[in-house]
Amino acid sequence: MLEPTTTQLRNSLRQTFRERRKSLSLGEQQEAAEALLEHYKTLPITTGAKRVAIYMTNDGELSTLPLIDFLWSQNIEVYLPVLHPFCDGYLLFVSYTKDSLMLANNFGILEPILECHKICPVLELDIIFTPLVAFDEKGNRLGMGGGFYDRTLEFVSKRNKCESNPSFNKMADVSTQQKNAPTLVGLAHDIQQCLSLPTEAWDIPLPYIVTPTRFFNFTHNM
Ligand SMILES: Nc1ncnc2c1ncn2[C@@H]1O[C@H](COP(=O)(O)OP(=O)(O)OP(=O)(O)O)[C@@H](O)[C@H]1O
Ligand SMILES: [Mg+2]
Repeated sequence: MLEPTTTQLRNSLRQTFRERRKSLSLGEQQEAAEALLEHYKTLPITTGAKRVAIYMTNDGELSTLPLIDFLWSQNIEVYLPVLHPFCDGYLLFVSYTKDSLMLANNFGILEPILECHKICPVLELDIIFTPLVAFDEKGNRLGMGGGFYDRTLEFVSKRNKCESNPSFNKMADVSTQQKNAPTLVGLAHDIQQCLSLPTEAWDIPLPYIVTPTRFFNFTHNM
């Protein structure tokens, strides 16, 4: 029998892990979302953060609503991904407040209405929380299969690699240097962890992942 291809393996894992999270009951989802927030408050991730991108929950993902409320209560600006209207496959991050008018996109996910002055350039965000379908012990991430985060965050990941290289600061012109690139943090249910994911060259790994009970720091792998 022929070995499955990487694409077939990834699709099959995607299906398994999507079904796994969708099978959680409403009560389990609520408990997980509350536990995530309590766990999150113990972590120093958002210390000093002013602008944070997060996402609207979809497809059995861990609910981000309690966390969004908490970020608002801390006067942290919250941004949500919006499908780029001209660059297919890319995301923009648009301000999200209690007064935002929302519209469902092609995937049925709610987005704030796109107004140019409400867009935050990716490099000006401090933290980007990403959704994921599965993650492994090295911080590899399997998403929903659209490549949206991979495309949008490609240059962020490259920049983070440069910044962690000690020769970067020596080479860079300090006067033109901007703030650090945003920190990428995956949010997931505990049951989305697996041992090892088949990856592709374009996949952007995550340096940090937070679940309701665990905090993973993968920066030593990167
Ligand atoms: N940087 C990139 N440039 C061009 N195409 C890309 C890039 N990143 C991903 N893609 C394309 O996107 C498609 C889906 O990628 P992949 O299966 O890794 O999605 P995913 O990581 O599950 O999705 P997402 O990032 O939306 O969560 C692939 O066919 C891939 O060729
Ligand atoms: Mg990917």
